[in-house]
Amino acid sequence: MTPKPISELSDDEARAELERLAKEIAYHDRLYHTEDAPEILDGDYDKLRRRNEAIESQFPTLVRADSPSRKIGGAVSARFKKVEHSIPMLSLSNAFSGNDVLEFDNRIRRFLGLESGKKIHLVAEPKIDGLSATLRYERGQFALGATRGDGTVGEEVTQNLRTISDIPNALPPDAGSILEIRGEVYMAKSDFHALNARQKTSKQKQFSNPRNAAAGSLRQLNPDITAKRPLRFFAYNAGEQSSPISDTQWGFLQTLKRWGFQVNPLTRRCTSIEEILSAYNEIGAKRSELDYEIDGVVYKVDNLDYQNRLGTVSRAPRWAVAHKFPAEQADTVLDKINIQVGRTGALTPVAHLRPVSVGGVLVSRATLHNEDEIERLGVMPGDTVRIQRAGDVIPQVVQRVSAGCGKAFEFPTHCPVCRSAAVREPDKAVRRCTGGFNCPAQTVERLKHFISRDAFDIEGLGATHIKDFYADGIINKPTDIFNLKNQRKALLCRDGWGEQSTSKLLQNIEERRRISLDRFIYALGIPSVGRVTAKLLAKHLGCFAMLREIAPAAIDTNATSHQQLLSIDGLGPVVTKDIADFFSNEKNQELLDDLNTILEIQDFSAPDFNGGPIYGKIIVFTGTLEKMSRNEAKARAEEFGARVTGSISKKTDFVVAGSKSGTKVEKAAALGVKILNEKEWLSILDI
Ligand code: IVH
Repeated sequence: MTPKPISELSDDEARAELERLAKEIAYHDRLYHTEDAPEILDGDYDKLRRRNEAIESQFPTLVRADSPSRKIGGAVSARFKKVEHSIPMLSLSNAFSGNDVLEFDNRIRRFLGLESGKKIHLVAEPKIDGLSATLRYERGQFALGATRGDGTVGEEVTQNLRTISDIPNALPPDAGSILEIRGEVYMAKSDFHALNARQKTSKQKQFSNPRNAAAGSLRQLNPDITAKRPLRFFAYNAGEQSSPISDTQWGFLQTLKRWGFQVNPLTRRCTSIEEILSAYNEIGAKRSELDYEIDGVVYKVDNLDYQNRLGTVSRAPRWAVAHKFPAEQADTVLDKINIQVGRTGALTPVAHLRPVSVGGVLVSRATLHNEDEIERLGVMPGDTVRIQRAGDVIPQVVQRVSAGCGKAFEFPTHCPVCRSAAVREPDKAVRRCTGGFNCPAQTVERLKHFISRDAFDIEGLGATHIKDFYADGIINKPTDIFNLKNQRKALLCRDGWGEQSTSKLLQNIEERRRISLDRFIYALGIPSVGRVTAKLLAKHLGCFAMLREIAPAAIDTNATSHQQLLSIDGLGPVVTKDIADFFSNEKNQELLDDLNTILEIQDFSAPDFNGGPIYGKIIVFTGTLEKMSRNEAKARAEEFGARVTGSISKKTDFVVAGSKSGTKVEKAAALGVKILNEKEWLSILDI
C-alpha cells in the first residue's frame, strides 16, 4: 500500500502514524542492534525513518518524546556492565546515489561558507559490515572497551576486546593520557565459514552471516569463548582525546597504523567529487573479492577543524556520509515453496532455491514474506527468480526472471502442521493457523522462545534440544522444563546425554526458577510484546499478581484496567488488545497458574546499585562455585557495579574462593586481601 502523501494527513492521522512509526522503528532497531537479526532491508528501514522525519517536520508539535529521531540505535543488553560513552557513538546518514553525494558536498560547503572553487579534502573508507566498538586508552594502556549500544550507553566488553590481536594493548607516549579509538569489530568471510563448519560438527548454533557471528562472539560473557573466535578490528575514528594526535583524518589514520592498529588498506584521500566517486567504484568492484563484508563507502571531511565546526545533526555527524552499495543479487531456480509456522501461528512462505552464491555467501533459502507477495511477484516453483541479500537481512526473492514449467503455488488455507484452519484477519497480510495450543509447530516455537536468550536463557538447553524433546514427548509445555528432573532416566537414555551433562542441565534449570518479572513476561511470547514492552509492563505494574489482575479485564475497552494499560507510555491499542487476549484465554490462565506455583517471579525493582555492597569493588573469583558458574558470578558481580579481574593485587578488594581454589587464595592471604567463601558471596547478592 502506498502511504498517504504527508501533505494530505490530518493532525490525527499524523499523530497515529508517528506512533506507528516510532513502534516499528524501535522494533527494527531492537532486532538489528540487540538481537543481531534484522528483518528488513536497510533501504526499507531508511524509508521508515525518512517518513518519520518528513511527518515531524510538517507537524513539529506532534514530535513524540520517544521519537526515533531523538535516539541513535538499539537498546543495551542487560547482561553486561553499562558504560556511558564520554562522547556519543554516532551513526551515519546515507547516500544512495551520486546526486546524494553531490548534495552532501554542497551542504558542507554551504555550512562552512566556502566558495565553490575551494578544494575540500575527503577521506573515502570502506564501510565495514561489523559492529562498532570503542577502545579507551589511559596513559597508553588499553583500559576500557565497549560496544556502541544505543549510542550513549554501551556494553563493557574490555576483556573480550583484549582477545583480538588487531587491538594493541599499549600505545606510545604520544597517545597522551586519554585516547579513545573507535572502529569496527568484524569477522573475515573465510573465518566465518570455518567457524560455522566447526559449530556444525559440535552441533552448535549456526551464524547467519559474518556480522552476526562477530556480534555473537564479542558479546560473550566468557572472554575465553571470544578468544577462540577469529575476530578482527579496523580502526577509523577517535572518541575522547586529551590531546589531538593529528589535524586531519588522513594523518590520524596514518598514526594509528604506526601504532599497530589495522587501518583499511583501501582508504583513499580524495580532492574532488570525481575522485570520491571513482574511489566508490573501485572499492565496489573489489567488494566480492574482499575477505570481509562491506556495504558502502564512508566519506569523511579530512580537516578535523572543519569536522568540529560542522558538528552533529540529530543522530549523525554533518561531516560524514555513508554511500551505500546496492544490495547484492543473483538469479537461481526456485525449487519449491514451503510454509513455516511461527510462534504466533503466522504462515510464512519460504523459497527453497538451487544454492547460489550471493556476494560470497551461499544462499539456498529466501523469504517470500506472505501470500500477497507471491501473487505480486507472480512466482511459481520451477521459475528462475532473482534473490537479493543486503547486509544482515534474510535473503528475499525480489523478482521473477523467467518462467519454468511448474504450476502456481496454492497458499494453504489450513496449517500444514496441525491442519487447523489458517485465516487472514481483515486488512492483514498474514494468514495465521488457528490451532493455538493444539498446533505442534506453534508449541515448539513458543517453547523455543520461552528458553531464548532474553527469556529464561537456560544454559545447555537450546532450540534443537527443545525440538527433539518435544518430538519425543519429554517436553510439551513450559512447566515440563521444570519437571525434567523427574525424567532423568529418559534423558540419560538419549544419545549424547551422560550423568554429568544431565546433572548440569538439571542444575541450570533449577537456577532459573527465580526470574525477573520482565524476563518472565517476555518469555510468555504474547504477540507484539517484545523485550521493551515486557519491561514497561514490569516497571509499571510492579508484580505478576497485578498483571494477572488487570490484564484479563482489559479485554473490555471500557474497563478501567484497559485504560490503565493504555496509559502506560509506549503501549498502544494493538499491544493492549494482544495482552488482554492472552491473559483472558483459559489455556493460558491454566499455564500461568502452573508456572506461578513452580517459579519465583520477582517483583520489579528499579536497578540502583550505586553505593551497593560491591559497587566499584575489584573482585577475583577462584576455584569452583557450587551455585553458579564462574561466568555467571562474574556477570552478577558486574551487574552490581563491581569489576572482576583475573589476578590478585593489592588493589583487589576481595577474593571469592570456591572449592579447589589454589594459589590465588594463598596470594590473597599474603597480601591481606579479604577472602570470602561461596556462602558469604551469595549472601552479599542476597541469594
Ligand atoms: S564512522 C561519527 N567509518 O557504520 C561516525 N563508521 O552507520 C561514526 N562503520 O556505527 C562512524 N565502517 O559501525 C565509520 N569506516 C567507517 C565505518 C563505519 C563501518 C559503521 C559503524 C557505524 C555505522 C554507522
